[in-house]
Amino acid sequence: MDGEDESRTQPRVGGGERVEPPASFVEQANVSDPGVRDAFAEDWPDCWRVAADLLDWTTEYDAVLGGDAPPFRWFDGGELNASYNCVDRHLADRKNQVAITWEGRLGESRTYSYLDLYREVNEFAAALRELGVEEDDVVTLYMPVVPELPVAMLACARIGAPHSVVFAGFSADALATRMESADSEFLVTCDGYYRRGAPVQLKNKADNAAISLDGGVEATVVVDRLGDDTPLTDDEYDYEGLVTDHRGETVDPVPRAATDQLFLIHTSGTTGVPTPVRHTTGGYLAHAAWTSHAVLDVKPADTHWCSADIGWITGHSYTVYGPLALGATTMLYEGTPDHPEKDRVWELIERNAVDTFYTAPTAIRAFMKWGESHPDAHDLSSLRLLGTVGEPINPRAWKWYHEHIGGGDCPVVDTWWQTETGGMMVTTLPGVDDMKPGSAGPPLPGIDARVVDTDGDPVEPGESGFLVVTDPWPGMPLSMVEDDDWFGARDPARPDLSDYDWAYFTEDGATVDEDGYVTLLGRVDDVINVSGHRFATMEIEAAIADVEGVAEAAVVSGPHDLKGQSVYAYASAVESADEDALRDRIDAAVEDAIGPIAVPDVVVFTPELPKTRSGKVMRRFLEAVAHDDDLGDTSALRNPEVVGELESALADRD
Ligand code: WTA
Repeated sequence: MDGEDESRTQPRVGGGERVEPPASFVEQANVSDPGVRDAFAEDWPDCWRVAADLLDWTTEYDAVLGGDAPPFRWFDGGELNASYNCVDRHLADRKNQVAITWEGRLGESRTYSYLDLYREVNEFAAALRELGVEEDDVVTLYMPVVPELPVAMLACARIGAPHSVVFAGFSADALATRMESADSEFLVTCDGYYRRGAPVQLKNKADNAAISLDGGVEATVVVDRLGDDTPLTDDEYDYEGLVTDHRGETVDPVPRAATDQLFLIHTSGTTGVPTPVRHTTGGYLAHAAWTSHAVLDVKPADTHWCSADIGWITGHSYTVYGPLALGATTMLYEGTPDHPEKDRVWELIERNAVDTFYTAPTAIRAFMKWGESHPDAHDLSSLRLLGTVGEPINPRAWKWYHEHIGGGDCPVVDTWWQTETGGMMVTTLPGVDDMKPGSAGPPLPGIDARVVDTDGDPVEPGESGFLVVTDPWPGMPLSMVEDDDWFGARDPARPDLSDYDWAYFTEDGATVDEDGYVTLLGRVDDVINVSGHRFATMEIEAAIADVEGVAEAAVVSGPHDLKGQSVYAYASAVESADEDALRDRIDAAVEDAIGPIAVPDVVVFTPELPKTRSGKVMRRFLEAVAHDDDLGDTSALRNPEVVGELESALADRD
């Protein structure tokens, strides 16, 4: 897999290959008006009415955007309920259509019609109320991808209780930190789940988290996934039992202000402390629904599959809220792509006649490596559109996806966005724009995103700079809505945005070409993007530094054929430490503090870390070593000899 990193090191600018969307796609596309960008620009912010019009409002909003400085109030004065929009309103036309189709890890499947979903969401909402959950109480959902997870999300939304989904692969410590940060006293979890056919315990992690919480947990609901008889204490409840007790009950959807919180989700920022990102009911839902409609081209009769775990924002917006708001069938898959066989994904697409498929470049690079014989063995003709998200997709992987999965007939949308943006921001519109492999595309209509230099001025085509968003957008989170202290301090690593009325720095580097297509170059902060999942280097460093036998540690991102980036740790051991044993302890410590996906791929032991004369660790050199890049000038180092030692330690390892 050589040359996989071309999008990082060789930004392609202008004049590159263009791929037109197929005419057969354009003819049927939800959005195909070539004038859509101009129309949005002329009518901003009122253009966003089209997104709000995809929803049902119990109280019409007075203004599309209230406030021209923070606090911004998208769809000001409007009221709605997300659960009503994703469930109830579809009953009239499609109560027997499948809303959720679930494919479990053991090969089993389950479907929920919109009527089934309506019933179970109501019953579970009634149960949550009985357990004492009130409007604005945060309910933590620590669950794998089982249908009870979207049911619980929608039940929370129904009663106006924000949910906080915590990825099931996170550790007990990570769960406790997130519950504390969200001030959450209610928990829904599972006894466990299956990974590659083998059971994995989850409830014991939830128990350990509960022990470390100061206030404890008021009530825990446990979904039985493993079929074990998990013993429950007085404040623990069996999900199935609760739903059965409330059989047939309904709960009126609570009208929520457009700016009321729908959910929160934690993400890694530079500081290393997981940050809660709180999304709104009106703006977020409108943004998720509109982008599902305009970019993923989802139609009510479609089966849409977003392969991201619901524990991440991608699953929130494009497995749950967007597709269900549009009345489509959304597919959930609990398993891994190569179990039991490497054609699992294609088998599922064929069997469920999936129309639109949204996945991560990491997965595509793995599919490429496994070879086209796997997709070739299946009928993938149901596919109409393909999408990617989470990291840059290199042109070679893009073309493979387009040709071998899409048969050359499906547009590929490379969508750039973040937990903070709630929904897609930069991508081609598949019914309007030509595609350029390796470049995400222009900002969506109504989104003012640009690439600027350190002074905040737009860069010339081909130059690299910082990706910033200079106008508010509907899916913006509450912290940004409310906060007017957003100017970056003048710092060479951050653009100076003080000339803008308002702006958001995304922490991503990018270039832009003469057609306005943005090519992403990766994060410019200390966040590592492993297979599309964000981790702060400081978060991982803190876990390693705590290991007995480790004197010092630094973590940087290094190259990885499949994952795009991976975690490289450099550790100096105290004398007498056994390196093999230490490596095991480091892995275990990271797994405990965060979870298995953050465990370093590479640990290099070194007598010392490269430091400046004032003692600051020079990460730049550690990154250069990891990437096998030129080191440049090492004269600022107090201990330049250590860099050579690191290089040979890394070479020995290969
Ligand atoms: C990266 C995931 C290149 C970027 C939705 C961003 C991308 C971070 C793309 C957000 C893309 C996301 N091309 N890079 N199409 N999409 N990223 O919050 O660095 O988990 O800042 O949200 O992923 O990751 P997050």
